[in-house]
Amino acid sequence: MALVSIEMNKHGVARATLNRPDVHNAINDLLIRELTDCVHMLGRHANVRAIILTGAGKSFSAGADLAYMQRAADQGEDENRADAMNIARLFNELSTCPKPVVALVNGAALGGGTGIVACCDIAIAHPAAVFGLTEVRLGIIPATISPYVVAKIGQAQARRYMLTGERFSADEARRIGLVHEVSDDLEGMAKTIVDALCLGGPEAIAETKRLIADVADQPVTPDLTAMTADRIAARRASSEAREGMSAFLDKRKPGWTE
Ligand code: COA
Repeated sequence: MALVSIEMNKHGVARATLNRPDVHNAINDLLIRELTDCVHMLGRHANVRAIILTGAGKSFSAGADLAYMQRAADQGEDENRADAMNIARLFNELSTCPKPVVALVNGAALGGGTGIVACCDIAIAHPAAVFGLTEVRLGIIPATISPYVVAKIGQAQARRYMLTGERFSADEARRIGLVHEVSDDLEGMAKTIVDALCLGGPEAIAETKRLIADVADQPVTPDLTAMTADRIAARRASSEAREGMSAFLDKRKPGWTE
C-alpha cells in the first residue's frame, strides 16, 4: 500500500496524504522516498496548480519513525550519512517545490512533522493539533529541519522550542508564525486558500516563490537590486504576463482561471 496517497481534482489541486495512520504517519525511509518522489513529480506536473499535504487518521505526522532512526544509527557511517541526506533532501524538495504547498494539519505534528509544516508555503491547523520540536527529549537534534523551522519562526522562538522540546498548541503555532490559520473547518479554509492560489498565474506563482527564497535575509546590495529588476523585466515580457495584464485591461478573466 502506498505510504503517500495522491488524488487530483479537475481544477489541478493535488492532495498528498501521509498514510501510515497506525504509527501516526511517522516518517521512515520508504515514506521519505515516496514523499520526495511525489512532491518532485507534482511540482513539475503541468496540470497541478496547488498541492495539499495532510495526514491520514488522527495525526499529521509524529515525525521521524524512531524504530527506523535506531536502525539507521546501527548502519555503517557511510550508509548512516547517505540515509540522513535522503531526509534532508525531502525537506529541501518540499521547500523548493515550484507549486504552492498547503499543509492541512489535522492532528499532532511533532519533530519532523513540525518540520514538514515549516517547509510548506501555507499551513492551516485544526484547533486540536499539537506541535513540538521534541528531538532533544530523545537525545537527537532537529538538524535537517532546522533551516526551514528557523526561517519560519525565527531564532527567538527556535531557541525556546528546540531547546525545551515543549509541545505547543495550534494557537501558539499561529502566534509564532508556523501556521497561518487555525480552523475547525480545515476543508473550508483549504478551499479559500486554494481558490486564491488558482487566481494567480502559475508561472508567476512559481517565480514568486523562488524570488522570496532568493531575497530572504539578503542584504539589499546593488546586485540584489539588479536581480529584482532582471526578474520583473523577464517576467513582464512573458506570454503569461501579457495575458494577465491584457485580461485586466480588457476587463475579462485571464486564461489560466478557466
Ligand atoms: N516513531 C515510531 N513509532 C511511533 C512514533 C514515532 N515517531 N510516534 C508514535 N508511534 C507509534 C507508537 O510507538 C505506538 O506504537 P504501538 O501501537 O506499537 O505501541 C503507536 O504509534 C501509537 O502511538 P501512541 O503513543 O500510543 O498514540 P497516542 O495517540 O497516545 O499519541 C502521539 C500519539 C503522536 C502524540 C505520540 O505517539 C507521540 O508523542 N509520538 C512521538 C512523537 C515525537 O516525539 N516525534 C519526534 C520524533 S523526532
